[in-house]
Amino acid sequence: MTFDQAILRRISNRKYLDIPLSQQEQALLNKAIDRANRESGLHARLVCNAPEAFRSLRKSYGMLSGVQNYIEMAGPSSDPDLMEKCGYYGQQLVLFATTMGLGTCWIGGTYDKALCQKKISSSDTLCCVIAVGPVAEERSVKEKLVRGTIQHKSKALSELARGMGDAPDWFMAGVASVQRAPSAMNRQPIRFTYEKGSVVAEIVEEGEFSLIDLGIAKYHFEIGAHGGVWTWGSPGTFEKAAEEKSCGAVIWKKTETGHVYLLAQHGASHWSFPKGHVEGKETERETALREIQEETGLEVTIDESFRQVVTYYPKPGVIKDVIFFIAQPTGGTEHAQEEEIRQLGWFTFEDAYPLVTFATDVEVLQAAEEYIQEKLS
Ligand SMILES: Cc1cc2nc3c(=O)[nH]c(=O)nc-3n(C[C@H](O)[C@H](O)[C@H](O)COP(=O)(O)O)c2cc1C
Repeated sequence: MTFDQAILRRISNRKYLDIPLSQQEQALLNKAIDRANRESGLHARLVCNAPEAFRSLRKSYGMLSGVQNYIEMAGPSSDPDLMEKCGYYGQQLVLFATTMGLGTCWIGGTYDKALCQKKISSSDTLCCVIAVGPVAEERSVKEKLVRGTIQHKSKALSELARGMGDAPDWFMAGVASVQRAPSAMNRQPIRFTYEKGSVVAEIVEEGEFSLIDLGIAKYHFEIGAHGGVWTWGSPGTFEKAAEEKSCGAVIWKKTETGHVYLLAQHGASHWSFPKGHVEGKETERETALREIQEETGLEVTIDESFRQVVTYYPKPGVIKDVIFFIAQPTGGTEHAQEEEIRQLGWFTFEDAYPLVTFATDVEVLQAAEEYIQEKLS
């Protein structure tokens, strides 16, 4: 699931199942939290098996049930952008948890804040917590009722945005993502303005959590607009990232004992799949075929029903999508392109898995393995 899809799927979950987070889920969440802390200077922390702060009816107003785990969104009290950073990075974590199939809910008021605060360093401020954990597919009647009272009603585009007449598609896509953003009491107190090529976000209704709402809204905008960089504060400005695109494929073939994958060592460093930049008006398929031929010497048939997208920032101000299909060799003579590929190799899934360098490519390999297993069965 991509973050765009997570934005469509996410809702505030207020009823959690009596199932602890697995070790693997905790490890994945902790890795994402560490990354966010490193980037932001925040001290966010996952707290597991700690239902105490949500048990008291008086403190939780009976809104939440079964919360066992939460993320403390805290950081240095001296950071002037603390609240907004908690919103921006907290929402990154919310969407990440959503891609893992977990439920989440931002909680600013309906918990025992004093109890949570006790675990926080004296030089830090606790801005909010985010409940996280397994949830049922279907909502309970009570949850529907609670949700009914604070139902997500998105603000109209005309209320959320200004300057739409001249705005490019990415601005409209950014604002559409903001319509789905959570906000305290569902107020969505932010406005985005497009004027002469630049975008400004500002708070239009002050409240206890409006800076957190601003950080959340900026993050949603950035995902919807497909990459860019914000300055902190209200008003804050957005610099749209330049977009790059590469296409390639996970190439596989059957062997007597199973199947193997073709990996390429790009330059002196990372192992991945054959891929390269789109040229001119090429389709994704045409780019993948050309790049595979250039990098490996192989002719292949491409299966476009498998299509995985890896997105990352190769350098500041640039966002890159890499599209991977699945392919099987049909001809050609295998040889590594001298200038770009150090070596090629065929590996079983078990051998390829630890060799592939980037975590995002490992996910593509995993998806390919599942796809092929299903195809072969
Ligand atoms: C900063 C912040 C604080 C929130 N605090 C609470 C809270 O204390 N209790 C609660 O039940 N929901 C809380 N929410 C969730 C909002 O009520 C919810 O996001 C909003 O109603 C929109 O619904 P949705 O998230 O399902 O789209 C909070 C959300 C934000 C962003």
